[in-house]
Amino acid sequence: MYHTHLAHLIWKDFLKPGMTVIDATAGNGNDTLFLAKCVLTPNSGWIHAFDIQAEALKTTQKRLISNLPPPLQARITLHEASHETFPPNICPSLIVYNLGYLPGGDLNKTTLAASTLKSCQNALQILSPGGLLSITIYPGHTEGAVEKSLLFDWFSELPSLQIFHHAPLNRSNQPSFITLRKS
Ligand SMILES: C[S@@+](CC[C@H](N)C(=O)[O-])C[C@H]1O[C@@H](n2cnc3c(N)ncnc32)[C@H](O)[C@@H]1O
Repeated sequence: MYHTHLAHLIWKDFLKPGMTVIDATAGNGNDTLFLAKCVLTPNSGWIHAFDIQAEALKTTQKRLISNLPPPLQARITLHEASHETFPPNICPSLIVYNLGYLPGGDLNKTTLAASTLKSCQNALQILSPGGLLSITIYPGHTEGAVEKSLLFDWFSELPSLQIFHHAPLNRSNQPSFITLRKS
């Protein structure tokens, strides 16, 4: 998928070994694994990955075990919890959201506009200065459209931040990719 590929290119360019990163929507763990390969060394870097579904975290864990050596696996914390609350005293360089529901999973277990907004607002607070918030949105389903609208209202209240939106010009309601840079 184009937006996922674009997100990965931007993360890879931004990240350095040793950074702390939050994957706020772990899902099947594809993004968690990608992020882990960018920042983890046996002695540095940390990933916190969140999902409300135990099944999703099981899949993520299997993917990490199959693809990373144990010293890197040990530097990843999987949280079976909503991303509305983050662990205390962490200062991540990048926080990523791949919103919506698990492909092929329960459509009712989608991210929800109000909690997504609350989480993104918290994320902006705890990001390190110069840190990046990355959000992939899917406005083609009902809750995704509400999420987009609520997030865009919030973005309009943040005129001092650099906010970029990569979306198709000639098609509506397609997945798109947003970054916010904390000054
Ligand atoms: C599109 S999927 C993520 C895909 C994933 N990044 C990957 O690489 O496979 C969205 C995930 O968000 C999870 N989710 C929904 N609401 C959530 C919440 N409040 N907090 C954390 N995760 C949530 C869903 O369970 C689902 O697994």
